[in-house]
Amino acid sequence: MSLPIVTATRYVLPLREGGSLPGVVEGNDLGTYVIKFQGAGQGPKALVAEIIVGELFRRLGLRVPELKLIELDPAIGKSEPDQEIQHLLVRSAGLNLAVDYLPGSFGYDGSAGNPGDDAMAKILWLDAFVANVDRSWRNTNLLVWHKNLWLIDHGAALYFHHSWMSAEKFASLPYDADDHVFSVAAPAVPAVAEELVAAITSELLTEVIALVPDEWLGDGDRERYLGHLLARLEQRATWQPGGAA
Ligand SMILES: Nc1ncnc2c1ncn2[C@@H]1O[C@H](COP(=O)(O)OP(=O)(O)OP(=O)(O)O)[C@@H](O)[C@H]1O
Ligand SMILES: [Mg+2]
Repeated sequence: MSLPIVTATRYVLPLREGGSLPGVVEGNDLGTYVIKFQGAGQGPKALVAEIIVGELFRRLGLRVPELKLIELDPAIGKSEPDQEIQHLLVRSAGLNLAVDYLPGSFGYDGSAGNPGDDAMAKILWLDAFVANVDRSWRNTNLLVWHKNLWLIDHGAALYFHHSWMSAEKFASLPYDADDHVFSVAAPAVPAVAEELVAAITSELLTEVIALVPDEWLGDGDRERYLGHLLARLEQRATWQPGGAA
């Protein structure tokens, strides 16, 4: 199994609210995508985290916009006047990440109610598992689309890979649930955790890690991701929001 590959045919506009300057592009399959650039400051590892975390969350029943790989020829952005964007496109020639664009979606701010205790607890537990610090009220990285909640922007998760922090250290790294948009759901976490733990098998993790293209990984990285995530699952008593069951 691999992610579908499309080719970018038109650069539509930059999404200036995103720190990594993602853009909206059209693909040769007539789809519209948010392109997350391999040449952005965070580098391809942010895209590796997007794939592993996004595809894991999807398989565990959460809504994540479809992910594809997208081939970029920087020439499609030649009429874009911004120098910074021109450089980003040039640095990102080749393979990038495409996130299905959700037209008319808006950022979740809690004003229209919350998705319920179970959904909130599940998202909180999973963000703690992958050490995702990008789900605060300042920036929820949750979109509301057709009245449902969609999870985006997992590029800051799995940060152990930036310096290959040891699996032992990552396994028991505490998680600051107080900063999470669904921190109120911490008491409901133990009730949803065991079902998630049972579903996160070595096979499932291997399957999502396999979706990352070779060119964004070093030798042995797939085994490292698997080892770190299995170790963290094992040590959940040390980081689980709401305490261990
Ligand atoms: N699939 C999508 N459909 C519609 N809008 C999107 C989508 N993905 C991202 N956006 C919009 O673009 C913004 C930036 O995207 P994203 O958070 O993925 O980028 P980032 O550069 O990683 O951002 P951050 O500054 O949060 O690190 C989002 O807050 C949202 O408003
Ligand atoms: Mg974001």
